Amino acid sequence: MYRSHTCNELSGKNVDEEVVLSGWVHRRRDHGGVIFIDLRDQYGLTQIVSDPVDFAQAHNLMDNVRSEYVLKIKGKVRNRPDGQTNKNLATGAVEVLVLEAEILNQSKVPPFEVDQDKEVSEELRLTYRYLDLRRGRMRGNIILRHRVMKFIRDFLTDNGFLEIETPILVKGTPEGSREYLVPSRLYPENFYVLPQSPQQLKQLLMVSGFDKYFQIARCFRDEDQRGDRQPEFSQLDLEMSFVEEEDVMKVNEELLLKIVKEFAPQKKILEEPFPVLTYNEAMNSYGSDSPDLRFDLPLSDITDIASECDFKVFRGVADDGGVVKALCVEGGAKFTRKEIDEFEETAKIFGAKGLAYIVLENDELKSPIVKFFKKEELDRIIDRCQAKTGDIIFLCADKFETACDSLGHVRISIAKKLDLIDENSFAFCWVKDFPMFEYDDDKNLSAVHHPFTAPKNPEDLEKDPEKALAIAYDVVLNGVEVGGGSIRIHNEKIQEKVFDILNISKEDAQRRFGHILRAFQYGAPPHGGIAWGLDRLVMILANEPNIREVIAFPKDQKARDLMLGAPSEMPSEQVEELHIKCIKKDKQ
Ligand code: AMO
Ligand code: AMP
Repeated sequence: MYRSHTCNELSGKNVDEEVVLSGWVHRRRDHGGVIFIDLRDQYGLTQIVSDPVDFAQAHNLMDNVRSEYVLKIKGKVRNRPDGQTNKNLATGAVEVLVLEAEILNQSKVPPFEVDQDKEVSEELRLTYRYLDLRRGRMRGNIILRHRVMKFIRDFLTDNGFLEIETPILVKGTPEGSREYLVPSRLYPENFYVLPQSPQQLKQLLMVSGFDKYFQIARCFRDEDQRGDRQPEFSQLDLEMSFVEEEDVMKVNEELLLKIVKEFAPQKKILEEPFPVLTYNEAMNSYGSDSPDLRFDLPLSDITDIASECDFKVFRGVADDGGVVKALCVEGGAKFTRKEIDEFEETAKIFGAKGLAYIVLENDELKSPIVKFFKKEELDRIIDRCQAKTGDIIFLCADKFETACDSLGHVRISIAKKLDLIDENSFAFCWVKDFPMFEYDDDKNLSAVHHPFTAPKNPEDLEKDPEKALAIAYDVVLNGVEVGGGSIRIHNEKIQEKVFDILNISKEDAQRRFGHILRAFQYGAPPHGGIAWGLDRLVMILANEPNIREVIAFPKDQKARDLMLGAPSEMPSEQVEELHIKCIKKDKQ
């Protein structure tokens, strides 16, 4: 028997019992002849104590163990002496006097201290992830993740959803990212694609007559890494038949609220039910389609005023159909020149050509651009932004998306700088009415969500596809897009029209999506759904800064698994068997 109790179980009730414990040497202290060890397992810590006189064999063994050795001990539970109890520890009232001890395994000196939550380089942590996972913070995150997943499964099962697995070796799913390909051995020059999401399969399940589907699904996207992105991540994916957008939003909102109340009860939910913004409102007011509503700082639009002014940059942008957006910051007159330059740099990272400003100081306006404006125009700008003495107004002129996006990022930087974000609050919102299409880098129309998203007004597809809106909705928490979904097209003709607008030829559509077009000929029900980024949600619940902290074995920021050493070169026979020839690139 390795243990009679875990390392988190013993209390005053067990005093005088003989117990067996197994675990790792978390910390070892030598108190002049008596050795104390905190023995650790997944569940917690128990203090064990040696007696050099009566139990010398055990004492000598404990004298020789080092951090992270694996030990089994037999001992007697006793109360800790007065003043020695540890209220922060579940087992803190007792200790175990060791009668017999056995080393189950030794450990090399770990590359970082497991018993402390000290900063360790991420490279080292990911290389020795199994040791990193022994640390309290990571263990807590992994346990939280499990509990959240179980909670989701229970809730959805109780609400009539079925969990159905969909395959990993599939055909392309257009979610807008580059795909991972898997070469086929049996079919030379043919490839499977790893799913970017179960999108098409879940729609086909609706055609199959399953009414409510969900899956905690693994998704693969070969995209540039960021703190909230991984090449391999998990979605809570769900789909429902005979529903409208409100039905999908309602069940998701209910589940999200229940999760927060269960797993982050200390957080204040700022608004319930979640506020609903259109894409245009979100962009116009907050410069983002995933606005952080924990603070206000709204943007204003002064395009009409700018279109009459003498500042060539602004007027030119307005004349070309662009916009001039303004951001007024209360008390911002105190920003230094250096700080203003930093905000301009931020705006430029997101495509702005510049960031103009007007400082309101007593009765004077300080700004490199006021000379181009008439007094009446300046008064209107100040009035529009509700600015007053002591404030600063930042201005950005550009195409709608660029002006909003860059000023939206300045808005976030300012909120951080001025400490406007209440870290104890959760601000959810829905953003809906996204455009159906946007122009990609090659000036072609592409789907904003994915090409299966239903248009609000199908007639718009004929008249003015650029203006068509989608029945699509994102759920946003504290400025992070935690989920996105839509009502789908279930009509073959509308689906064909969308492919047409996306410049996907009939042949191409047949080749890539023939399965779905064919399925729609056999009575597809109206349907819709959503997918949450599960890692992102758990990250926020765990108060972690990036999703790697809530994934047991994540990739690093260069998409590598440092522990396994993946990706890696393969033996040439194995590659040749796949009918693949590698072209060596000169290593730099
Ligand atoms: P979408 O592409 O918006 O929609 O993805 C849904 C949610 O998944 C999360 N997410 C990611 N999380 C971590 N790493 C990534 N690389 C990553 N990419 C996306 C985001 C996002 O909101 N099939 C549709 C959903 C639907 O229409 O039902 C889809 O995948 O939180
Ligand atoms: P310039 O006349 O180019 O020196 O610009 C004068 C000021 O206007 C500088 O502070 C620039 O940062 C700012 N500016 C230039 N282009 C833009 C723009 N598109 N939007 C906002 N401000 C701009």
